[in-house]
Order: sequence, then structure tokens, then C-alpha cells
Amino acid sequence: MKVLSGIQPTGRFHWGNYFGAIKQYIELQTAEQAFYFIADLHAMTTIRGEPETLAGFSRDAAIDLLSLGLDPNQAVLFRQSDVPEITELYWALLTITQMHLLDKGHSFKEKKDRGLPADAGLYTYPILQAADILLYDSDTVPVGADQVQHIEITRDLAARFNHIYGETLVLPKAHVVEATGKVVGTDGEKMSKSYGNTIDIFEPTPKKLRKKIMAIKTDSTPVEDPKEPEGDSVFTLYKLFADDQQQAALAERYRAGGMGYGDAKQTLYEAAMDYFGPAFEKRQELEEDLDTVEDVLRAGAEKARAKGAEVLDRVRSAVGFKKRS
Ligand code: TYM
Repeated sequence: MKVLSGIQPTGRFHWGNYFGAIKQYIELQTAEQAFYFIADLHAMTTIRGEPETLAGFSRDAAIDLLSLGLDPNQAVLFRQSDVPEITELYWALLTITQMHLLDKGHSFKEKKDRGLPADAGLYTYPILQAADILLYDSDTVPVGADQVQHIEITRDLAARFNHIYGETLVLPKAHVVEATGKVVGTDGEKMSKSYGNTIDIFEPTPKKLRKKIMAIKTDSTPVEDPKEPEGDSVFTLYKLFADDQQQAALAERYRAGGMGYGDAKQTLYEAAMDYFGPAFEKRQELEEDLDTVEDVLRAGAEKARAKGAEVLDRVRSAVGFKKRS
């Protein structure tokens, strides 16, 4: 299996990023090839004119992923912008992309609807993502449900390229975990930075984490009344952290009555603290050791470039260009 995925450094990672994607990166890192990258070229579509912010977010992203269990001895971790081969493949794919494919792109439509400048970068964002995936012969792409459309576009482009130029590119598949493909936020909608409903993996203090959890929206069933756990956001989020037995125990407390949502939130808070506790400690260590983080990224980029050059040479000869290596 050749696994690849990317994540944008547009701020701190939240529970949706973790349970929808990062957890799977780590589970799949023992695959024959496991490439994970910080999508800073994609982040250029939202963070502009703030070089320090972008560099800081990228560094934080690397520290977060390593703290959460990404092992650089197994997986290859790199910054997208350190692999220039990507933009060459991007051009090759641009030339065969029909516009209607991009008109349907939901990220573009959504951002445009929110009044963000709709430039060509945003419009062609899915083609850059296709280049990310196709450059390394990836066959498995762990992502949340919101990225499935982009993987479909990638498959379409690879198939079209192969149709025109002959068998060159590998068609990948999205790997989405059904139960966690769409994690809800504090308001019950999909957790997303743009909705302001996120809970970060590394909230700066336990107090801030508790405050966010206490603010999760619930209905107004009185404390003494029985409550239905399924469909309640606190319970839905608790399921991410708990095994079957723990879930059943909390469900029983909901249904018995006499338990307020505040108690359920406290249970969720404690579960989250336990779950991410070790990563918090690892994170503190890594923050003191930024040279190691930079070394990991540099070594990762070298490996990614080597594999990328191989695939790009196939593309170059298919097109009629000289091979590079
Ligand atoms: P990004 O940076 O928005 O999100 C990173 C990953 O987190 C997942 N995710 C969620 N999963 C479940 N529930 C949620 N509420 C939730 N919110 C976010 C996303 O599905 C994603 O897997 N375009 C990509 C980055 C990218 C990429 C790639 C991904 C660039 N090139 C190549 C895969 C392969 C993005 O914006 O993800």
C-alpha cells in the first residue's frame, strides 16, 4: 500500500482533523510507503502577506503531527513547498483539466460564497491536490469525508492523463473511516475553523479546553429528566474517545435521568485530557528541540523528491520531454 495525505497549516489542528485524518495517518504509517505533508502551497490561498504566520503554522503543524505519534522512522513527513516537482506535475494536469470539473469544486464554491477572493489559485486548488497525490504513485489517501470529492477529481484527472498519454499515473482511493469521517463541532455542525466551532487538540490550557467543552450546545432538558444520548453533541464527541463499555455506561446515565449536561461535559473533558495527555508532554519536549523537527522535514523532503522525480520522469517521457534523472 502506498499511503499519502496532506493537511493545511492554517492554524492549530482540531478534533475533526485528528479523528477524521491524523489518527489514520498514524495507523497507516507502517505501510510500504507512507508520505504525509504540510500543505503550505494550498495554505497560500488563505494566508497571504504574513510570512511569519505561515512559517509558524507550518512548524506547529510538524510539531503537532510528531507529538501525536507520527514516527519519522516509519513515515516520511515533509513540507509541500520543499518539493518543487509538485508544481511541474500541476502544470501537466492543468493542461488536461476541463473547466466544468473545477466549477463543481465545493471548496471553491463555499469560499466564494463566503466572499473570499475567488482567484485562479483557489479555482485550481483541486489540481494541485491531484498533483500531490499522483506524484508519488499513492493508492490510498486517508482523509475526512469533505475531501472525497477532491480524490474523485484526482482519479478523473489520472484516468484522463492515462487515456491521452498511455498508462502513466496510478489511480488512488480515498480512505475514510465511516464513524469519524465528519466530526461535529460545538454547535452540532461539521467541525471547521470557518464555522468557529472547533475544539483544538492542543488547547493552550486545560482551563480553555474545559471552557470550550462547557460551551457545547445541548437541548434544554432539565437535569432530572432522562435524556437521549444519540444525536446529542456531547455524547457524539465522547464516542471519539471512549470504548464500547464506556459509551454504554454514559448512555445509561443519560437515559436514567438525574444527570445534567454539565456532568456529561465533565466526563468528556476528562476523557479528552487522558487521551491527549501524552501528546501534550511530547509536544513540550519537541518545542525545545526545533532543530530535530527541521531535520525531520529536510530528510522527508529529500525522500519525497526522490520518489517524485521518478514519477515525473515517467510523465515527462509520456509528454515528449527529456527525462531529468
Ligand atoms: P484540511 O487541512 O482542511 O484538513 C485536514 C484533514 O482533516 C480532515 N477534516 C475532518 N475530518 C472529519 N471531520 C471534520 N470535521 C474534519 N475537518 C477536517 C480533512 O478531511 C482532511 O483530511 N485539501 C486538503 C489538504 C490537502 C490534501 C492533499 C489532502 C492538500 N493536498 C492531498 C489529501 C491529499 C485540506 O484542505 O485538508
